[in-house]
Amino acid sequence: MKKVAILANGGDVAGFNAVIRAIVKTAENKGIECYGILDGYNGLYKKDYELLSTAAHGPALGILPKGGSIIGSSTNANVFNYKITNEDGSVEYKDVSDICVQNVKEAGFDCVFTLGGDGTQKSARDLSLKGINVIGVPKTIDNDVACTDITFGYNTAVSVAAEAIDRLHSTGETHHRIMVLEVMGRYAGWIALESAIAGGADAALIPEIPYDINRVAEKIKNRSKRGKDFSIVVVAEGAAPKGGEITIKGTRNNGTGVDNTKLGGVGQIVATQLQELTGLEARSTTLGYMQRGGTPTAFDRVLSTKYGVKAMELALEGKFGTLAVLKNGKLDSASLEDVVGNNTEIGAVSGNTAESNIRKVSLDHDLVITARDIGISLGD
Ligand code: F6P
Repeated sequence: MKKVAILANGGDVAGFNAVIRAIVKTAENKGIECYGILDGYNGLYKKDYELLSTAAHGPALGILPKGGSIIGSSTNANVFNYKITNEDGSVEYKDVSDICVQNVKEAGFDCVFTLGGDGTQKSARDLSLKGINVIGVPKTIDNDVACTDITFGYNTAVSVAAEAIDRLHSTGETHHRIMVLEVMGRYAGWIALESAIAGGADAALIPEIPYDINRVAEKIKNRSKRGKDFSIVVVAEGAAPKGGEITIKGTRNNGTGVDNTKLGGVGQIVATQLQELTGLEARSTTLGYMQRGGTPTAFDRVLSTKYGVKAMELALEGKFGTLAVLKNGKLDSASLEDVVGNNTEIGAVSGNTAESNIRKVSLDHDLVITARDIGISLGD
């Protein structure tokens, strides 16, 4: 192994740079050259690469605590159905995956490390079937990648949400209000559930448990009866009422094969309904991209470093077509075939769609049991 490349793809998270640094440092120790592919799968198609090094003034020096990604990232760049905007403004979609395979061969990359969530790993799996050596690293604040206990970036997102809940507590208590916090997480409720426990919220509404708003209102009214005239409700952006639909903020135009749905808005709906049902004033806050930006927690720095090192170890062992994972607290690997689940057709839908093989909160998970046992309403 002489030359490897790193590709960061999907929504950014805190910890991207920590993984990049760990891979580059491990590569340097082994005398391997390491390149960054710029702006995710876009850079693979456009041959945009940068040599990474941790030497004095090198681009990978001093990046451990830095938010974002020094090599950029891209959301919804699907090389199997790639969006091309022509000079006249017209848009067409092309399968450019063979060009990407050719580019990797020309550049002489012995392995491409794909840092990303389910969509990124689906494309990585498909490229591996076309002959590229890939090793995945599970990234996303949503914590919904299959076959691993945790993704990097998630812990930071939970910490940011927990801090927001602390801050909402003091203002909510002062003004005797219901404070609703909408958090990200797409179709999984990990961030909402764990931050609700960490922040001492009174209710957590997650996609895995359709909610009855009357049950949440009852919980709040019971608190009021006991003299607690403020409440905190955490709502996952993908939460939906029983028999109802997910709240959609808008749709994108990135072609088939990727999730063009932008979630958002359920927090305001929940706040309005709770105000009507309880007679208490309610306010809604959407945490948004705060959960993705900024410096990683110490936990995420360590997890990202471990993942980077494990990914390089897998590459050196020739275990391509795998994802570095954490299983029961230990570093391990999972085959990308298992990660993509039933979505095995090359070039079929990428990630973030109904066909995605994502890891949702199971109803017997410790977090669900813990939340219920301490009286957090899950809206059911
Ligand atoms: O998957 C990460 C995530 O932050 C989701 O939690 C959220 O729904 C989505 O990305 C937002 O995507 P975008 O950056 O395209 O707005």
